Amino acid sequence: MRSIDIHDHVKGRSIYLDDIPLIQGTLFARVFTSNVAHGRIIKLDISKARDLEGVHKVLISSDITGINQIGGIIDDEPLMAENIVDFIGMPIALVLADSESIARKACKLIDCKIEAFEEITDPRIAYEKGALIIPSKKFILGDTESTWSSCSHIFEGKADINGQEHLYIETQGAYAQPVEGGKIKVYSSTQGPTAVQRAVAKVTGMEMHSIEVDVTRIGGGFGGKEDQANAWAALCALGTHITGRPVKYSLSREEDIYMTGKRHPYSADFKIGFDNKLKILAYEVTFFQNAGAAADLSPAVLERTLFHCTNAYFIPNVNAIAHCCKTNLPPNTAFRGFGGPQGMFVIECAIAIAAPKLNCKASDIQKANLITTGDVFPYGQLAESEAETSWQQFEDRFDLKKMQQDVDQFNKENIHLKKGLAVQPICFGISFTKTLMNQARSLVHIYTDGSVGITTGAVEMGQGVNTKIAQVAAHIFSLPIDKIRIYSTNTTRIANTSPSAASATADLNGKATLMACEAIKERLKKVVISIADTKEQNSDIEIRDGLVFLDSLETKITWQELISKAFEQRVSLSEHAHYATPDVHFDWSKGKGHPFSYHVYGTSVTQVTVDCIRGNYEIDFVKVVHDYGQSMNPMIDLGQIEGGIVQGIGWMTCEDVFYDEKGKLRSNALSTYKIPDIYAAPKEIDIIPLITDKENLAILQSKAVGEPPLMYGLGTYFAIENAIQSFNPTVPRRMNAPYTPEKVLLALYGSKDL
Ligand code: MTE
Ligand code: HPA
Ligand code: MOS
Repeated sequence: MRSIDIHDHVKGRSIYLDDIPLIQGTLFARVFTSNVAHGRIIKLDISKARDLEGVHKVLISSDITGINQIGGIIDDEPLMAENIVDFIGMPIALVLADSESIARKACKLIDCKIEAFEEITDPRIAYEKGALIIPSKKFILGDTESTWSSCSHIFEGKADINGQEHLYIETQGAYAQPVEGGKIKVYSSTQGPTAVQRAVAKVTGMEMHSIEVDVTRIGGGFGGKEDQANAWAALCALGTHITGRPVKYSLSREEDIYMTGKRHPYSADFKIGFDNKLKILAYEVTFFQNAGAAADLSPAVLERTLFHCTNAYFIPNVNAIAHCCKTNLPPNTAFRGFGGPQGMFVIECAIAIAAPKLNCKASDIQKANLITTGDVFPYGQLAESEAETSWQQFEDRFDLKKMQQDVDQFNKENIHLKKGLAVQPICFGISFTKTLMNQARSLVHIYTDGSVGITTGAVEMGQGVNTKIAQVAAHIFSLPIDKIRIYSTNTTRIANTSPSAASATADLNGKATLMACEAIKERLKKVVISIADTKEQNSDIEIRDGLVFLDSLETKITWQELISKAFEQRVSLSEHAHYATPDVHFDWSKGKGHPFSYHVYGTSVTQVTVDCIRGNYEIDFVKVVHDYGQSMNPMIDLGQIEGGIVQGIGWMTCEDVFYDEKGKLRSNALSTYKIPDIYAAPKEIDIIPLITDKENLAILQSKAVGEPPLMYGLGTYFAIENAIQSFNPTVPRRMNAPYTPEKVLLALYGSKDL
């Protein structure tokens, strides 16, 4: 089934923030920001800006009516700088003007002097200086220390991995409007309407019930709008609260790129030990996370790095430690995979370093260590594993040996073109790692004409969650999909939502919808029974072609008649249901628990061809066996997998976030930050569903699909590395993603300048 949005998307009728009609009197906002990464404001003169014609007001931190604080996990992030600035792009003043261009001009008239302090941009330096956002976190399984002596081979190394710009098509933004009684309605491009509501309440000093947040859909989020939509909404709402006028702020691409945080760069040290049969006996890893200037979601991201630091492998002795390092960069934030991909990259680096020294392929090590059902993850959860089945079905389907032979043959016959191959198993835990976030609600109404309207906490961001929720209702009521409408996500209809994130949105909100629909259906059954002249109390109703069937027997009752009858009998046609994921728990004091309701597995192979004269490369193919469970919407899920793979490839190859030593973003436009285009995408992506009949806790057995496929992209890095090795086996293996063509060229010829 296609996405319910596609017709409106294609016709340009879908509503995003900038499609909301402007109310007369709307003011346009723009922030004046710090151009110094770390320092103290010694002068701030806004008078010239304030006096510019068309400027209504210029607000600074002391104008904030509530609390100057938007930190999500820790209260360490002022909305606008007071004395100290912590990163380039930190808001200092808010201009409210009659037009965007006047606001822009006014910002240039603000006179601000900042005394610069020493800035830190490197997480290892931050760590040495003790600049940590939270105390470091640890996972320990078994005992690595006493295991090293029984290892036949031990390898140590360092891995670096860069950040990634979200580059959602719709930039960040919000539109606040005054509502009678001093209330405020905020339209926000956010994944987390409640997070926005909370931030707005805090900053304005209002109560949450006075703030309504509404989201029809967003033009992509990829994690970048899980927490970082809050600032713009809070600024607009503050403007509305103070001026009584509607305030809109829709960031330009340039502002969005330099002011918002990105995927976290990490640097890591690892040590890995093997027996003489390729079994990994021990793994030690230390992660230095570049969190940026405030906590934002970094502590939670750091935790997921630890959760996924052994990827799809069982390792009996693990000692993993992670440091959340404070630097003078914009606070880094959630990004598809939420720290998991960085954790997985490092173990794959360790395997890639070990393989040639153990005279084998990385895939031999991967295969020998796949986690099986009953094995324990370092965090105490027992695996219900599909790692081996996905690998097995992958081998059945794709002839890995033959692929490798073809690559070897090609490399023998070609001097300046080299191919590389890499297998990439994945394992990703589904659930918010913060247990309390695993809850959702759904409000279902059947109107008297038989049509159905649903509100949940889910935000549609292109991932197709609204279609899946409509499918759930259509399935329970046996109705055609066009009888179901999904409404905007709105905090007055559904309260206290978790953000749409962690790939769990359809599971959580879909299950709440399923419960609401089933409760209504239960009541409708009684109505059918009352009019169909049957005594059977355990009957099942179904609607086929608009007619009600009772226990597979056609009644003469139409769906509309049934609904009218229910209404006549004063039976409620509405339900508000609450779902909380069962059995998930985690105890951080022990570092053990059962944080995930299930895991998603899969195996991919990536082949690349490297041009060894130019350093360019092409991705020949990515082939995957992916664990969908039983996909409820293969078309949407296929789109998620293809998109995830290409986004993962971008992160591993051409996308290179670059801050200079002063903390200034140099890759600040699409001319200096390259995302994959159609030519950079694999020439072929082949996706095969894993066949399994196991039960799972996903909605209608359809496993979460949003984030896991991004991690197939990791294989690209190692495929390129393997191609480089065939060209020049003397170059030391380097573990420093991304592999941009420039870096590939330097690596091919053994340059040390990397
Ligand atoms: N797909 C599209 N088209 N746009 C997005 O912003 N975000 C990804 C993924 N797929 C995203 C996307 C991220 S980071 C997550 S967590 C999930 O979708 C969130 O949606 P889900 O929980 O419904 O999978
Ligand atoms: N994923 C995404 N967002 C989150 C998570 C997570 O696991 N935990 C807290 N916020
Ligand atoms: Mo996704 S990073 O959990 O929004």
